Amino acid sequence: MNTKKEYGDFQTPVELARRVVSLVEERIGIPDLVIEPNAGVGAFLLASVQQWDDQVEYEGYEINDSYVAAAQESLKGTTAKVYQRDFFVEDWKRILARPKLNRVLVLGNPPWVTNSDLGQLGSGNLPEKSNHLGLKGMDARTGKSNFDIAEWMLVRLIEALPEHGAIAMLCKTMTARRVLRHFWKAGSGREGSELFRIDAKSEFDVAVDACLFVTTGKQTQTCTAKVFSDLDTTSESARFGFINGGLVSDIDAYRKREKLDSGSSVYTWRSGIKHDAAKLMEFTRNGDQLINGFGESVDIEEDYVFPLLKSSDIGNGKNTIRKAVLVTQQHTGDKTSGIAHRAPKTWQYLMRHAEALDQRKSSIYKNRPRFSIFGVGPYSFSQWKVAISGLYKKMSFVLVPPSNERPVMVDDTCYFVPCRSQAEAKLLLHLLSSEASAEFFQSLVFPDSKRPMTIDLLRRLSFVELARELGRLEELQALTKERTDHGQVERQLQLVM
Ligand SMILES: C[S@@+](CC[C@H](N)C(=O)[O-])C[C@H]1O[C@@H](n2cnc3c(N)ncnc32)[C@H](O)[C@@H]1O
Repeated sequence: MNTKKEYGDFQTPVELARRVVSLVEERIGIPDLVIEPNAGVGAFLLASVQQWDDQVEYEGYEINDSYVAAAQESLKGTTAKVYQRDFFVEDWKRILARPKLNRVLVLGNPPWVTNSDLGQLGSGNLPEKSNHLGLKGMDARTGKSNFDIAEWMLVRLIEALPEHGAIAMLCKTMTARRVLRHFWKAGSGREGSELFRIDAKSEFDVAVDACLFVTTGKQTQTCTAKVFSDLDTTSESARFGFINGGLVSDIDAYRKREKLDSGSSVYTWRSGIKHDAAKLMEFTRNGDQLINGFGESVDIEEDYVFPLLKSSDIGNGKNTIRKAVLVTQQHTGDKTSGIAHRAPKTWQYLMRHAEALDQRKSSIYKNRPRFSIFGVGPYSFSQWKVAISGLYKKMSFVLVPPSNERPVMVDDTCYFVPCRSQAEAKLLLHLLSSEASAEFFQSLVFPDSKRPMTIDLLRRLSFVELARELGRLEELQALTKERTDHGQVERQLQLVM
């Protein structure tokens, strides 16, 4: 067992703890009580005692008994107490609510580990109910429920924090944002929320974006937080917040493009095909031959085989087709048994590899027809698409035309808008590639997100407002009117107009 990893164990250098403590004093003044919930060897307790001496009371909690002993040793002769405790079984409301010690400061550095890392390590160092974000169905199953243990702990601590209390903890910037979002979404912001960036590489030798997250127990309607580029109050760089139902990374930049944030779009962004069996379902072409990921030449009918663009093909703004994919359904949930009659060689191929396909891990394949895929619908077969990869930081939208009159599929790490014609696809590409669109998306995404483009983000953009801004509204209107069998788009557009 990798214990350091399991306990997210990165002990804070005392020098960093000292800088944090003096910054905290500058921000919120001298507390009555300092509590370190994951005290480790006690760096923050030590730094606080050195700063505030016996003006303040000190308590540390830590699961690892050798760390408890080390902390007790280094704090010998001070009033600080360190207890061996498991965070997950403590009653934090009771611990933090001290009538006589009103200004409680929760200080420290909670574990740097995610619930899925712990799952892989077979570790039990987890809260009992770990889906604290309340995700349901697909989101919970497809990994949106992956979170830092620190996130869970911070949410519990803030919930338990009395009004005059404050929290100052080191964590990933993403964790701090997710914690704030959790409260903002419920309409209960916290006053004085601030993120001071730290250099995690030089302090902890980890390549993540991290910060000192400071917030108080006082609730407010305002859902914004300030960002500072280092542990210095003069380094304020931006404000982020929760506006119109979503996170905004730069409020000032967002205000400039706010009109484009429609919440609903006349076009529907879709994800590409998901099958979790690239070696069997994807092929390269060698002349007329299809070659699967095992290097086998595969002799199947072309009926269910479509050209495929993967994220790596479109991520850098290109769209060179290198692959083909077996698309077994037209809608999620369609019966697949009909393939046996319509394309017997394809069916035989699937049956030959049935064991591997049946063992696909994701629970989305459970209780579905054999050889099912996901992310498929009539939209997958649209001849023209405008697509973007969700795996790249750079935002490049590409036109995806048909290839030899076959619609081109994209993989499940890409998003696309299905289009009815070349003209429509070209117009949407023009709109999406504009400066206005780039500024809008930039104001929403966070510089440290590895994969900033998500379908939720794309869905916020209003094509109508963007077309209006760029003087192409009439054209868009005319094109969508042509969509005889896409009545829904037509109606939405009328409504928006
Ligand atoms: C990132 S380290 C920080 C230690 C210390 N606060 C510091 O800043 O140096 C996280 C600490 O959390 C402790 N920890 C992990 N899981 C815990 C749990 N369930 N309850 C209490 N402490 C825990 C680890 O043993 C480790 O010492």
